[in-house]
Amino acid sequence: MAQLLVLVFGIVGLWTQVDCLANNKYDDYSLVRIYPANETQVEAVNRFQDHEDTIEVLKGSRGINDSLDLLVAPNRINYARQFADENNLGFEVKQQEYGRTFKSVERVPRRRVLRSFSIYDYNSFSAIQEYLETVARRRPELVTLQILGNSYQGRRVKLAKISTNPNAGNPIIFIDAGIHAREWVAPAMALYLIHRLTNDPDARQNELNGVDWYILPVVNPDGYEFTRSSKANRLWRKTRSKSNGNCYGVDGNRNYGFKWAVSGVSNNPCDRETYAGPQPFSEPETQMVRNVMLENAKRLKLYVSVHSYGQYLVYPWGYTGDYIPKEWKKLDSLARSVSDAVQRAGGKPFRVMSAGKWYPAAGGSDDYAFGAVGVPYSYTMELTDGYEFVFPERLLKVVLPQFYEGFRVFGAQIKKEFKNSRVPRDSDTNDNED
Ligand code: ARG
Ligand code: ZN
Repeated sequence: MAQLLVLVFGIVGLWTQVDCLANNKYDDYSLVRIYPANETQVEAVNRFQDHEDTIEVLKGSRGINDSLDLLVAPNRINYARQFADENNLGFEVKQQEYGRTFKSVERVPRRRVLRSFSIYDYNSFSAIQEYLETVARRRPELVTLQILGNSYQGRRVKLAKISTNPNAGNPIIFIDAGIHAREWVAPAMALYLIHRLTNDPDARQNELNGVDWYILPVVNPDGYEFTRSSKANRLWRKTRSKSNGNCYGVDGNRNYGFKWAVSGVSNNPCDRETYAGPQPFSEPETQMVRNVMLENAKRLKLYVSVHSYGQYLVYPWGYTGDYIPKEWKKLDSLARSVSDAVQRAGGKPFRVMSAGKWYPAAGGSDDYAFGAVGVPYSYTMELTDGYEFVFPERLLKVVLPQFYEGFRVFGAQIKKEFKNSRVPRDSDTNDNED
């Protein structure tokens, strides 16, 4: 059996390497930014966002003066420029030959192993797993790891549960990252959170006092490793499951079973970005996150899905821009406090709004948490602005501590609002009834 596995993985490995030799599709693409300056232009820009074959939308525009970021093939630049001219839109070619600007991940395996782990690096999935194991071993009184299952390709997904008293029935903050493969800063943030919560004596007194933190650093490890495998794959977003049509991947953040596929998705499995999957929760990766939510539904008070980029902090609904939840003021004001804290720490403020007002897209984890599970505070957080998806590693030292200040505000609010509102366990309920 073991030999068979070695053989199978050997073949998969070989195949992956062959795949890596493929040219980088984006080598000749240009990074283009288009700026709407009034409402008419915003509408024009939103129309443009509807799929063009050789133009990929990196980031939608929230509205006036917020850029629509595109990757444009050389033969389509004129088309894009013409569109901008016709609508009087600001048009900027930010970077030509965009794909050539990526560095390949230095992965001389021997050096990586010898080099000590740093929380301020972009780490491989296996280094991240090792780090989780190490933390759990060093701080058994604080950290337990729960195996959630396997990714499509069989990577073991682990949830870090950080709690000073797991039996107290504390409110839970659940944070996941890395559902989108190319958004490397998100897993780095999640790991940094674990690092601070478990090492900072201050955290025990405050953030962990009466609140449990569940952190899942890499929801989509297959995609993550795929983006690390070559420059050509650096901008992969989806999972790596294979569809009938022989195409790869589902957009995990279109795959959740709440208002599934009603807006902002692609039905084409060969679409590079936003394929919603054959049905809700088709992906093992989204099933695992769902299960964490459902198992802890009563105690779960805050859910944050960490992404990049654009420095947005958005709340439900994501599936529509036509309504916002009646509780929107609470969602909005907590987000603004988080943003303020990040800004006080030297970071950029977040753009705060409902996700659907930015651009409607259904099947997101934020809507599922809020709408299906009943989590009172639910957000998608888009970290960093500038550098698009390739945020420089050397700057992690600067930004991660700034964002941490935002997470402390989240923690403080959950503590203030829910600490001691202990959820009775089933057995307790029965006792009371007797
Ligand atoms: N950039 C994220 C995405 O496209 C934003 C998700 C916001 N939430 C939502 N339900 N649309 O997945
Ligand atoms: Zn994302």
